[in-house]
Amino acid sequence: MFLAIGQAEQINEQIKKRFVFPQRLSRLMSAACAGLLLLGANAAYAADDRNPLANDPKAAKAGEYEFRINCALCHGLGAHGGGRGPDLTRAQKRHVHSDAEMFQVISNGIPGTVMPANGTNGQGVGMTDEEIWQIITYIRSVEVKAPAQPIGSAAHGKELFYGDANCSLCHTVQGKGGRLGPDLTGVGGSRTREAIIESVRNPSRRLAWGLTEATKEFPQEYETVTVVTADGKQIKGVALNEDNFSIQIMDGDEQIHLLEKDKLRSFQKSRDSMMPTYNPDVLSDKDLQDIVAYLISVGAK
Ligand code: HEC
Ligand code: HEC
Repeated sequence: MFLAIGQAEQINEQIKKRFVFPQRLSRLMSAACAGLLLLGANAAYAADDRNPLANDPKAAKAGEYEFRINCALCHGLGAHGGGRGPDLTRAQKRHVHSDAEMFQVISNGIPGTVMPANGTNGQGVGMTDEEIWQIITYIRSVEVKAPAQPIGSAAHGKELFYGDANCSLCHTVQGKGGRLGPDLTGVGGSRTREAIIESVRNPSRRLAWGLTEATKEFPQEYETVTVVTADGKQIKGVALNEDNFSIQIMDGDEQIHLLEKDKLRSFQKSRDSMMPTYNPDVLSDKDLQDIVAYLISVGAK
């Protein structure tokens, strides 16, 4: 049984590597070529505070291509936001305003979130400064100019969140609430409206990610784990952290257990979320819209 888990993990690792490696290789090669061709020219791009390629349609086209390879996985095709990252076409951004700030965020990532630094997340040596400016030109070209009208009642959403809908049993917003599920303070800024709705209507379809750790290429997912310890105790909870030998679980009472895998009588992981599915008969579309409005009003700050 343990062997089987180990093997499955190994295979998983292999799949990840195979998936990531060709991309890495091509990035390495294109970076090497760019280095040869441009030599010192790159430094000129880095020193600028303003985008040297602003409003250049050719740069936007190249940026669109780069975006598809490096960013669309989380930010969606067309930068409209995906399951993992915010819509970058919205006029009002949370972390960045100027092009220079955007350059910083794309280069260094956003610590404490899954937004990766350039060159991590399987991007090999990463993008050149020129490629980053191209991406910024692309993002600016698809931005909508006016901020979107708010939908739903944030005040009513807040009441539901801490009241009838019971979200706060498992989720914290601005320091208040439960801890079994992820902190939702930032979720309205980091994910799209559609993605949040999907998480509530269909929690198991795509599990939330915990924080990325510097030592890990992929963040831990909120998988559900059921174990039986050597003395016969059953524990069910979400995986907070895991390596080959141990796993950290938080159970429904918010107790954290650090367990050595080879001491367990049984160990099962599942992709069925610990979060209940909220069907429209339990939580109407309108009420859910209000809750999302609340999360967006908090997360946009
Ligand atoms: C692994 C997923 C992931 C990848 C890959 C990724 N991002 Fe992000 N990005 C995020 C998340 C999540 C946030 C929001 C962080 C937060 O506020 O919690 C974010 C935030 C941003 C922001 C700030 C948005 C704001 O409102 O201020 C920019 C700009 C950005 N990303 C650009 C990019 C670009 C360009 C790429 C590709 C080079 C990229 N990201 C790749 C997940 C990702
Ligand atoms: C019994 C505990 C529980 C309750 C109640 C609960 N959740 Fe969750 N929620 C979780 C867990 C655990 C996860 C992580 C696994 C997953 O993604 O489904 C999660 C994930 C989420 C996510 C995805 C977060 C991300 O970063 O991707 C959102 C959004 C969310 N919940 C919103 C809500 C809302 C809104 C409510 C109330 C209507 C609610 N939850 C009620 C436990 C709960």
